[in-house]
Amino acid sequence: MNSTGSSAPVSHIGVLTSGGDAPGMNAAIRAVVRTAHYHGLMVSGILEGYEGLVTDSVKKLHVRDVSNIIQRGGTVLRSARSESFRSVEGRSIAKQTLDRHGLDGLVVIGGDGTFRGASIFTSEHGVPIVGITGTIDNDLGGTDTTIGFDTATNTAMELVDRIRDTASSHDRLFFVEVMGRTTGAIAMHCGIAAGAEFVMVPEKKQGIPELIHVLERAAKNKSSVIVIVAEGDEEGGAYEVARKVKERFEHYETRVSVLGHVQRGGNPTVADRLLASRSGVAAVEGLLAGRANEMVGIVNGKMVFSPFELVVQGAKPKEEDLMRILRILSI
Ligand code: F6P
Repeated sequence: MNSTGSSAPVSHIGVLTSGGDAPGMNAAIRAVVRTAHYHGLMVSGILEGYEGLVTDSVKKLHVRDVSNIIQRGGTVLRSARSESFRSVEGRSIAKQTLDRHGLDGLVVIGGDGTFRGASIFTSEHGVPIVGITGTIDNDLGGTDTTIGFDTATNTAMELVDRIRDTASSHDRLFFVEVMGRTTGAIAMHCGIAAGAEFVMVPEKKQGIPELIHVLERAAKNKSSVIVIVAEGDEEGGAYEVARKVKERFEHYETRVSVLGHVQRGGNPTVADRLLASRSGVAAVEGLLAGRANEMVGIVNGKMVFSPFELVVQGAKPKEEDLMRILRILSI
């Protein structure tokens, strides 16, 4: 029995968004709130991620409080990477906040940092927590994709399409930097979708000589070349790669474009809204079924729960396959 005397494992759940925001987080918040009410649970929003648990920024959410947000990027609950929650004392204050508000379960929406925090919090205080993927990086285990990745990749692709228009009007070589400090998923997907000639990702060591080889081949018959560089590639960001290439290859005039945080904003795509809606329903129903310390992801079209410790190990590498496809199609 929980504090309200009902036999369900939870009666009043909290929802928060943590880490970098991602398009579709609002759709997930909406789904969590509405599913909670549908099942007769109370639900509160926690502002600014785990930080809101430390500072006691908690407010009850009703069904109409989440109207008109499914289409909006960012997160109405705001987000943060909380320093205080990293300490034992911070997490103990967070637990006191939960108790003060009568919260007996949490849904946390974010990426690997969010789930690492959740895992420690559960082990210390036994709070049941279910996670929802919310990161443009698509770098989590236990899921084929994450909320925000489709939107971010579409945004990046659209911008690269525009760059191609101008690049091919001037015989130019463009280095386009996309987000991804430790993962090249955005770079790889956007690269294939926008017909890039070369993609540089942190997971795979590809040196400047390999890039020069591709550029020399392209110089024979291409009016423009696009190289996508993930921000975390070991050769450096797009400016650094462009500088290294310029020293050895001068066939094209070169330009650099860093797409930056535009990739994180904007209205979520259908795919992200749908994934967020499905994840929200599954997360709340998971808590109701007694699940804890797990994230709900999508695997082969089905909602699947995986333990946080597996999720934070990261996605299975898919780059080799995609690299090969890019090599074939960019000749
Ligand atoms: O995790 C999402 C992400 O956008 C990464 O792709 C990027 O490296 C990082 O966040 C940027 O973080 P910040 O918004 O703190 O600059």
